[in-house]
Amino acid sequence: MGFFRTTFNLFGNKTRSVLKVNISRGFGTFAALKQNPMAGTEFYGAEERKEINDVLETGIFFRFNHDAQRNNIWKAKEFEAEVAKLTGAKYAHAVSSGSTAVSCALAAAGVGAGDEVIVPPFTYIASVEAVIFAGALPVFAEIDETLCLSAEGIKKAITPKTKAVLLVHMCGQMAQMDEIMQVINDHKLILVEDAGQAMAASYKGISTGLFGATGCYSFDFFKIATAGEGGVMVTNNENAYKLADNYSDHGHDHIGNNRGMENHLVLGFNYRISELHAAIGLVQTRRVPMIREKNNQIKKHLMKELGGIAGVSFATLPDPNGDSATFLNMFLPNTSAAQKVVDEFNKNGVGGFNYWFTNMYHFINQWDHIKEGRVAAKTNVQLLGAPQDYANMNLPKTQETIGRLISFSIKATWSEQELAELIAKMSTSIRAALAQTA
Ligand SMILES: Cc1ncc(COP(=O)(O)O)c(C=O)c1O
Repeated sequence: MGFFRTTFNLFGNKTRSVLKVNISRGFGTFAALKQNPMAGTEFYGAEERKEINDVLETGIFFRFNHDAQRNNIWKAKEFEAEVAKLTGAKYAHAVSSGSTAVSCALAAAGVGAGDEVIVPPFTYIASVEAVIFAGALPVFAEIDETLCLSAEGIKKAITPKTKAVLLVHMCGQMAQMDEIMQVINDHKLILVEDAGQAMAASYKGISTGLFGATGCYSFDFFKIATAGEGGVMVTNNENAYKLADNYSDHGHDHIGNNRGMENHLVLGFNYRISELHAAIGLVQTRRVPMIREKNNQIKKHLMKELGGIAGVSFATLPDPNGDSATFLNMFLPNTSAAQKVVDEFNKNGVGGFNYWFTNMYHFINQWDHIKEGRVAAKTNVQLLGAPQDYANMNLPKTQETIGRLISFSIKATWSEQELAELIAKMSTSIRAALAQTA
């Protein structure tokens, strides 16, 4: 298979055998954790240990101040510089998680109390939570076959109170940016991008996160690059960057080396990342171009092999060259066919996929706490009233799109044999399921 020759050229055969040794021993240059869900956790080793040791030797785990003791070790700053280099962002600001990065992105874009924010009903729940905890009101709109909000969906959800769109780039892919930017500009809305799952994806050469006022990525354990826990907010706007820097640390201005005497420019909170997490994120970010290339080769091969089965198609990629390829996003003809395929996968021991339609975290059908308004303490949704009847949403396009979607996590460390076995099992299962629905 062509893609494997290229894949192994990146490492060479020698590295391939080293990889095998490390898998069994669990340590070494790259300890490849094949059972884990995403590429970041598939590769780690000596480089991470080196960066972490730098921090351990200084004992300064705090990302600011302590200039004399830290021996010029500034891992959070280096992490931010790597993310800026990878994405082309003018400014990158690292925080404690992807969730807090969404909060920073919203605040720095000026989205707050009482604002209606258009959000997708297919996203990790953190996107919706961040809007609610900003004091804003989520308005759900339709997605399309990109798995992201559609321009049409956004347009239909706009009201006089709409302030912003929180566009979430799902499953490693990107939204239809030309059409969406047209709506954003026509209606003078603020665009905030949650690219928690789509760092390293791009559209016509522009990275996710850089189309609107602010954007962000997650570096949790399940992403293309992990910091253990972490997130990064990006922007090309200096003022938004400075606001995020203040907001994520109780408003501190970060001027000088005496924290106790710093000014508080705005009201903020603690969303800081630690130097230890930043040290891991820094190394992992450097590996992203290599992972993205491997993922793309594997995804293209899977699409070629499975795309020949009648009834199988794939999520729309507005710019196929900009795919981060962390997921193979496969459509079946309808929800009932997809459910039968899921049953066949389970019967035949095919793992590593998500059927989001029944997933507890990613799809509105399962968000009972939002629908029932179950909160620990009152939010603006209770105080001002929900802008939609969350319990009875009418989103037919989203329902049929997610109903027929099955997503596979792509592993950059799959061996040629593992991949061939997976394709064989998937093909058999899909054909068996579709034969039942014919
Ligand atoms: C789209 C999206 N946004 C935000 C987040 C939250 O990131 P974290 O888990 O780092 O808080 C995630 C996590 O999966 C995500 O997928």
